[in-house]
Amino acid sequence: MKILSVTSEIFPLIKTGGLADVTGSLPKALAAYGYSTRTLVPGYPTLLAKLGETTVVHDFPDLFGAPASILLTRYEQLDLLILDAPALYSRPGGPYLDENGRDHADNWKRFAVLSYVASAISDGLIEDWRPDLVHTHDWQTALTSVYMKYSTAGRNLPSVLTIHNLAFQGQYPKWVVGQIGLPQETISIDGLEYYGDISYLKGGILTATAITTVSPTYAREIVSPELGMGLEGALSSRPGALTGIVNGIDTEIWNPASDGYLPAKYDHKTIRVRAVNRAKLLEAFRLDDGPGPIFAAVTRLTWQKGGDMLAEVAEEIAHLGGRLIVLGKGEQFVENALLTAAGRYPDRIGVRIGYDEETAHLIHGGADLVIQPSRFEPCGLTQLYALRYGAIPVVSRTGGLSETIIDANDAAVTARVATGFQFHPATAENLRLSIHRAFAAYHDPKKWARLQNQAMKANFSWERSAEQYAALYTDLIEGGKASSIFTARAAE
Ligand code: ADP
Ligand code: GLC
Repeated sequence: MKILSVTSEIFPLIKTGGLADVTGSLPKALAAYGYSTRTLVPGYPTLLAKLGETTVVHDFPDLFGAPASILLTRYEQLDLLILDAPALYSRPGGPYLDENGRDHADNWKRFAVLSYVASAISDGLIEDWRPDLVHTHDWQTALTSVYMKYSTAGRNLPSVLTIHNLAFQGQYPKWVVGQIGLPQETISIDGLEYYGDISYLKGGILTATAITTVSPTYAREIVSPELGMGLEGALSSRPGALTGIVNGIDTEIWNPASDGYLPAKYDHKTIRVRAVNRAKLLEAFRLDDGPGPIFAAVTRLTWQKGGDMLAEVAEEIAHLGGRLIVLGKGEQFVENALLTAAGRYPDRIGVRIGYDEETAHLIHGGADLVIQPSRFEPCGLTQLYALRYGAIPVVSRTGGLSETIIDANDAAVTARVATGFQFHPATAENLRLSIHRAFAAYHDPKKWARLQNQAMKANFSWERSAEQYAALYTDLIEGGKASSIFTARAAE
């Protein structure tokens, strides 16, 4: 069976967050279930520069006003279709933002065209490769199923829309519809219309055959006004179509045994190797050492991620004798607050504003705890990477964080199932209390060893989740809609 996955980012070629990790690893996991995936991605210059040999599989003399082509290539274990459309993608900056950190002004067009091309491929644009199902991700590719609905080619393939983050919705003025080849009738309350504008994500929610999100808890949260971000009505109008499948992690890329940061499982060597990592990490951030734990965060420094709460507790961590290491970038006020704290405790707080994969691995290998005080978190991957490296997560109890971490209360520690610290609701005060709990546990060697041991045993490889995606694909391809058995299983 052939799957066309459509995404605006894919690891290791182009990444701004967890979306890339998922789209880069899920196809490999699905291969074991007989699904071969080709992923359609935009031909950003940095991505094109990394590719080896490519084959042109389609030429557009005029794609929404400019020439473009589709390239086929293989990169590591990924089969890719690249939409090489220089007028849309060949420019400085990242996938969404220009060099000054502002949205590209024509994002409405850049991602609508990507979705249009995905729909055309589902209709058989590439002669010798016709997919059986289309899998789209987030607002950037959500219009695909809208184009498919209005396509006259009539292949009518099933589609899955995965929502990785409901906060980003692709909201644009109504005039956009006239520019992207969709009929005016799509501007209705039962279509793209959204509080006087249009929303690409809403279009996908209403037209995809099935909708998934990246944890069962988030699937439940987003049908409520509290976390539905204005789309709870649209989501509730598709009962039975929405399920949650928790993300897996790529255990080859996040493998402490192969990247040199740890033995494969918790044993007497773990503590020794972690001590070496600790020294490397402190040196990398120019901090001194002491008897307290190292807390760390590798994250977008945004309101969603509670970056401001991190800044609020930073000095207390230092004051209590701990270290805090932050690698991230994002909103200016969060960056500034963290840098100010680092300025006050230069030996104990290290903040690096930037994005760096290699340092992220070192942090998970050397830090004792990884903090994630998210206000909402569809799934979250950093806590899963942390577990694998024996760094204990301190997380707010929301979305995927609530179901991937087991709080270290006395009963859970005694039963040897605890893997981290949870707090709720996400406030700086609750985070502060969790940090105190973490200090106490760190200074209790028996408890700490149990926690680390348990964390490293947790298995969040793709196996189970890929099986759920495969079951969903099979249901949709064979039956045209998600079966209730699948829905019940995902909601367990
Ligand atoms: P989100 O996608 O909401 O940002 P996730 O936890 O799902 O959150 O995924 C974040 C991914 O981005 C992880 O792979 C994490 O390691 C990575 N990441 C985030 N910030 C940085 C950074 N500053 N440097 C390196 N990697 C980062
Ligand atoms: C989003 C979410 C994050 C999730 C990731 C991958 O960026 O914020 O929670 O892990 O997508 O699905």
